[in-house]
Amino acid sequence: MKHFTSVVLFGAAVVALVSAAGTEGEISFEYHRYEELRKALVSVWLQCPTISRIYTIGESFEGRELLVLEMSDNPGTHEPGEPEFKYIANMHGNEAVGRELLIYLAQYMCNQYQQGNETIIDLVHNTRIHFMPSMNPDGFEKAASQPGDIKDWFVGRSNAQGVDLNRNFPDLDRIIYINEREGGANNHLLQNMKKAVDENTKLAPETKAVIHWIMDIPFVLSANLHGGDVVANYPYDETRTGSTHEYSSSPDDVMFKSLAGAYSMYNPVMSDPNRPPCRKNDDDSSFKDGITNGGAWYSVPGGMQDFNYLSSNCFEITLELSCDKFPNEDTLKSYWEQNRNSLVNYIEQVHRGVKGFVRDLQGNPIFNASISVEGIEHDMTTAKDGDYWRLLAPGNYKVGASAPGFLTVIKKVAVPFSPATRVDFELESLMERKEEEREELMDWWKMMSETLNF
Ligand SMILES: *[C@@H]1O[C@H](CO)[C@@H](O)[C@H](O)[C@H]1NC(C)=O
Ligand SMILES: *[C@@H]1O[C@H](CO)[C@@H](O)[C@H](O)[C@H]1NC(C)=O
Ligand SMILES: [Zn+2]
Repeated sequence: MKHFTSVVLFGAAVVALVSAAGTEGEISFEYHRYEELRKALVSVWLQCPTISRIYTIGESFEGRELLVLEMSDNPGTHEPGEPEFKYIANMHGNEAVGRELLIYLAQYMCNQYQQGNETIIDLVHNTRIHFMPSMNPDGFEKAASQPGDIKDWFVGRSNAQGVDLNRNFPDLDRIIYINEREGGANNHLLQNMKKAVDENTKLAPETKAVIHWIMDIPFVLSANLHGGDVVANYPYDETRTGSTHEYSSSPDDVMFKSLAGAYSMYNPVMSDPNRPPCRKNDDDSSFKDGITNGGAWYSVPGGMQDFNYLSSNCFEITLELSCDKFPNEDTLKSYWEQNRNSLVNYIEQVHRGVKGFVRDLQGNPIFNASISVEGIEHDMTTAKDGDYWRLLAPGNYKVGASAPGFLTVIKKVAVPFSPATRVDFELESLMERKEEEREELMDWWKMMSETLNF
């Protein structure tokens, strides 16, 4: 994750530009081409330098940077115990609304933070938030360069190699469906396969960069912003039998519904039960209250959403934000108004469930310990500082922490809607246990010998 140093060079020029146009503290609702996107992110960073940072996770096929704006009270570092969140937009280059909404959201949060908005201040102080407005900057440029207001339905969808990035991720659903039947891992299916990813020539550079990002940062929650319909879609996206429409629940179906609902609920258009389908012949029969299971809608193999869930600790949903993929510029403000509360509320969902630390009896963090929940066949793992987050819907649970060489500890936990319940685990190492047992045995032997007067 290399630092974005070039911004410093044109920083001064941007300050001049921002104050001259008088747009500081306001949002200008327009499309941003690649250079404009970069400038918009830089101006957020210049306006809110103590809570933001710009970095890049790699380059597109044509060499455009995959820019990320991070917001946190300690930009650039993972703080032990603080959950990480991401929004990724525009992986289909012609689906432009999400790209703009993430720029506006970054501007809005920076403005509100400076104006003392407690909700936003709390969120920024307690969460590390990453915004990637475009995962497919090449596709966007292609779509945006079409003349006139009406854009083709497909031009710019794929990356510059013609790869549909949302079909390009390793198909871990197929593996999990086999493991469900025959036994095997229920999480972190890409464990120890980094090299295989790097050497896989079928993966687009954009896909590889995002895979590395997912592997490197302990993300807890994420959403992937699309266009072409209006719904919050949750895992699994790929059906078990391969049929086109089939409800495909994941072990976290209850929580995923709650997460999708937390987005849809605050969007008056998405949650409207009387909203007509985007197009007359669209089959929206799987939509309910603005949410849908992915497989029930239509099966997607190789998508990013399921990949997050099956390769890491990250829960991801897919948001379809607009019937038009590339609507007229003068509608952007209304999309912002429809989605603003949802976008903020969804980030807040990262503070649900159970969280805490796993340590040994000396207080050392245990990295890569498993966190399991009875009845949910999908384990989390601890991050470098022994910290973990386990999103859960309200209820009573038995949560276990285990690691090779340690005795497993199980605790009963009551989980409210929010905030997350703090549960720490202290694990005793088996070596220590053996040592204790040996000493006890010696004591006993000593006592016996003395009593019997050997
Ligand atoms: C503060 O931010 C929240 C979340 O976006 C918003 O709902 C609320 O209206 C804001 N408060 C003010 C005073 O603007
Ligand atoms: C984490 O634990 C799993 C299972 O015990 C193991 O296969 C994997 O190599 C570990 N990962 C790291 C990064 O240590
Ligand atoms: Zn899409």
